[in-house]
Amino acid sequence: MRTKLLIFGISGDLSRRKLLPALKRILLTEEFQDDLSIIGVSRQPDDVRQILTRSLGDDSLADKFSMFTMDLAKPAKYHELKKYINLQDDEQLLAYFSVPPSIATSIVDFMGEAGINTPNVKILFEKPFGVDLASAEDIIARTARYFKEEQLYRIDHYLAKEMSQNIVAFRGGNALFSHIWNNQAIESIEVLATEKIDIEGRAQFYEQTGALRDLVQGHLMQLLALTLMEIPAEFDWDTLASFRLKALEQLTIADPADTYRAQYKGYQDEVANEGSLVETFASVGLTSNDPRWKNTPIRLVTGKALSRKTTEVRIHLKKQRLAQSNKIIFRIQPNEGISIELYIKKPGYDRQFERRSLSFSYPEDEVLPDAYEQVIVDAIRSRKSLFTSGDEVLRSWKILSRVQESWHMDNDPLPLYRKGSSLKQIHEQLGV
Ligand code: BG6
Repeated sequence: MRTKLLIFGISGDLSRRKLLPALKRILLTEEFQDDLSIIGVSRQPDDVRQILTRSLGDDSLADKFSMFTMDLAKPAKYHELKKYINLQDDEQLLAYFSVPPSIATSIVDFMGEAGINTPNVKILFEKPFGVDLASAEDIIARTARYFKEEQLYRIDHYLAKEMSQNIVAFRGGNALFSHIWNNQAIESIEVLATEKIDIEGRAQFYEQTGALRDLVQGHLMQLLALTLMEIPAEFDWDTLASFRLKALEQLTIADPADTYRAQYKGYQDEVANEGSLVETFASVGLTSNDPRWKNTPIRLVTGKALSRKTTEVRIHLKKQRLAQSNKIIFRIQPNEGISIELYIKKPGYDRQFERRSLSFSYPEDEVLPDAYEQVIVDAIRSRKSLFTSGDEVLRSWKILSRVQESWHMDNDPLPLYRKGSSLKQIHEQLGV
């Protein structure tokens, strides 16, 4: 089936950095070179050749693109857009919303009112999906007036990372892991996403967001769901979202007494808001009611301006005696792979143990598909396993609702950490 990909906000930052490079790789494959065309929508007249050159360094793919200029706030313009798209019954339209979330819901309404919502129209959304439970409920209800859930593709690019998908593959495909995947063998679970970068000038965005909304509610909660979910014997990837949802439903509502937040020094100057209470670091303790995970402490941790960039799921195994191997690490990024911490006899005349790592990594010349490439291809093929369902979004907000309420009411200044701190240093500072 031929696909027309409509990009709202084609001249924006996300499109330049992520979407267009991903599209270039997709358009160069045999499968998609004839069946995919792109319509860029922008507010100001912009030349597609210049947009492509800015992003890709050349305009060699310009014949696959066309441009439509419109004011996204003018409902009448959507009727003109519909005529321009001229979608045929044997074609599908994929509308990618590379626009601020504040206007995404209005675009959905205007598309619906103009009749750009036939069953062969799909929508690809970027996070954030609301800022709390109430706003997410509102967005989901409004969107449902014109689009069915199966037409909606909510992107969480962490789900589409190769190693995130591998959590399921490793767990399901290797008896080594499936036997021990329970609270009998596992002591605790940590999902970490530390970043070296600070907010990189995104003051307005970050002041409305903070670490809990930016990383914990979506990315980390989804990695956790992949770690905890049941993997049935007859596993079908298309049902992944329903298993992730079941795992999220078993998580208890996070207790504010077991959550910590902090802010890096210098943040308030950067956002020009003295006394800002926005957290750039968050650490959330959770537990699950699932009998398989009862009494297993879980922690989700993220922070900006830390000593290094690393996204990992760490599984701490219960020790039966002191010197035993005790960790399995899914390295989501960088250096994608998996490590198992081992104790071995230290080579030499003495009978001593030492810690080494059994590690799987991809060969250096093996190029992993980028997350954005993967989501576009899956949306074209109507495969939903990498996308977050409305119910998952709501459940994740619900899990964090008490923490959000408690933080909202607490006006005490946040603990400050030095830029470049290690996770260990911050945890020590906060007493985690
Ligand atoms: C985004 C957040 O969703 O993920 C950013 O808004 C964050 O604040 C980014 O830096 C991290 O993504 P990645 O793929 O670089 O780990």
